[in-house]
Amino acid sequence: MTKAIYPGTFDPITNGHLDIIKRSAAIFDEVIVVIMRNVHKQCLFSEVDRQQMIETCISNLDNVTCIIDDGLAVNCARKHGAKVMIRGIREVQDYEYEVRIAATNAWLDQEIETMFLLSNPNYSFISSSAVREIALYSDDLQHFVPDHVAAKLKANLHK
Ligand code: COA
Repeated sequence: MTKAIYPGTFDPITNGHLDIIKRSAAIFDEVIVVIMRNVHKQCLFSEVDRQQMIETCISNLDNVTCIIDDGLAVNCARKHGAKVMIRGIREVQDYEYEVRIAATNAWLDQEIETMFLLSNPNYSFISSSAVREIALYSDDLQHFVPDHVAAKLKANLHK
């Protein structure tokens, strides 16, 4: 049984992330989406809110779950018996960033492989921070996030 984790900040989950999740679910027996802390980021949504949004998105995917974890991503993978860590790559800047993280993680635990999935070109320009900014000034988020995430963004930003 091949288990993979897909770690990220997901503040909030976007259609780009969801595309990576669906494609991973078709490759691996089990996929665990892990909301992890990025010490360099201050988040709009709480971890629990982010988890709820992801769980709604994955409710029709039998082999995908979502958890919240802390610490190193390799420790999380090991703890859950996952041999693979999935990361999405949208463009060359992502590649440069991800290569460094993958090399660090490989040094930390050689038994865990990072696997990259190329982003669907339709979503390659989407990022969570761009979505948060667009939501401040526009109601048209259909291409960027699922409807329930758009509603949550609107509610949160207009508090
Ligand atoms: N579709 C849409 N957006 C995508 C995407 C895709 N397919 N792939 C990446 N992104 C965007 C995200 O929206 C996010 O945008 P933002 O910066 O505007 O918020 C950005 O790319 C990268 O975010 P994400 O994929 O969530 O990763 P991250 O860089 O915030 O965090 C962790 C990566 C959580 C996995 C990393 O911080 C981590 O491993 N933390 C644990 C500590 C650790 O193990 N450190 C050792 C390794 S250095």
